[in-house]
Amino acid sequence: MMTTTADLADDEISDAERVFDELVAHEKRIEPRDWMPEAYRKTLIRQISQHAHSEIIGMQPEGNWITRAPSLKRKAILMAKVQDEAGHGLYLYSAAQTLGITRDTMTQQLIDGKAKYSSIFNYPTPTWADMGAIGWLVDGAAIVNQVPLCRASYGPYGRAMVRVCKEESFHQRQGFEILLTLMQGNEEQRAMAQDAVNRWYWPSLAMFGPPDDQSPNSAQSMKWKIKRFTNDELRQRFVGMLVPQAEILGVTLPDPELRFDEETGEYAMGEIDWDEFFEVLRGNGPCNAERLERRRTAHEEGAWVREAAAEYTRKQALRAERQAA
Ligand SMILES: [Fe+2]
Ligand SMILES: [Fe+2]
Repeated sequence: MMTTTADLADDEISDAERVFDELVAHEKRIEPRDWMPEAYRKTLIRQISQHAHSEIIGMQPEGNWITRAPSLKRKAILMAKVQDEAGHGLYLYSAAQTLGITRDTMTQQLIDGKAKYSSIFNYPTPTWADMGAIGWLVDGAAIVNQVPLCRASYGPYGRAMVRVCKEESFHQRQGFEILLTLMQGNEEQRAMAQDAVNRWYWPSLAMFGPPDDQSPNSAQSMKWKIKRFTNDELRQRFVGMLVPQAEILGVTLPDPELRFDEETGEYAMGEIDWDEFFEVLRGNGPCNAERLERRRTAHEEGAWVREAAAEYTRKQALRAERQAA
């Protein structure tokens, strides 16, 4: 059972808080049974549920290409990849449930348009090369973001991330390999690959969130050891990973200002279009309405599966009861 602040007297809260602070300070995990500050619980519910929603909505842009993948092998790989994302969503919903929110509530928040998910999935996937660019850039950014989350102070979240990260690295390589194949093809294929990189590069950099000086919640998350690095630090790390890989691919990263600054030891880069980022976040991206509508329909169409599962559980329990009697 989880202990919430409401169950405790004032002096017990200060004791519980001291234990919590010590656990976090000593890199020990906070588990569902432990007392935790309400703000920590709320922050985690928001972050983990948004993360879960992103995995689930993220199935759509690639799902769009399953029927049109250029070969049986590509189709099988893409199906496995999209299925992995469904699994990530499920681990994460389960992790969020340990904090006292139900799966139904989270699903309702998503289909009512009240919950956020990563803005990147509101961009369209008009060509096959988008499958390459998403794997390379979007899953690539996800890895950079998520590897440090394997050490998140909240146990169920950190453990879910370990499994997720292993699969993300397969996703990133399959995307890279799609782009590599296209870049070794004819002129039209190379142009298609470059065009997809042009469209996904900036939104993938925006995935790390606003610059540090405009990210008010980061400091608290770092204090709680949910987050380990700032948005800008992670963005730097990501660009550092992309530059040599872009060279191997033979694609150009669409930022004329991008260069390694020997003095600072960091990449200098052009300005991200934050106005666009916030517009998409507010729901005005090219595919926001379509993504939510699809999710809503899928939920309605899946009602009979949920009912059947509930009925099966009911009958199993009844049978167990009779056997025990
Ligand atoms: Fe994922
Ligand atoms: Fe992925």
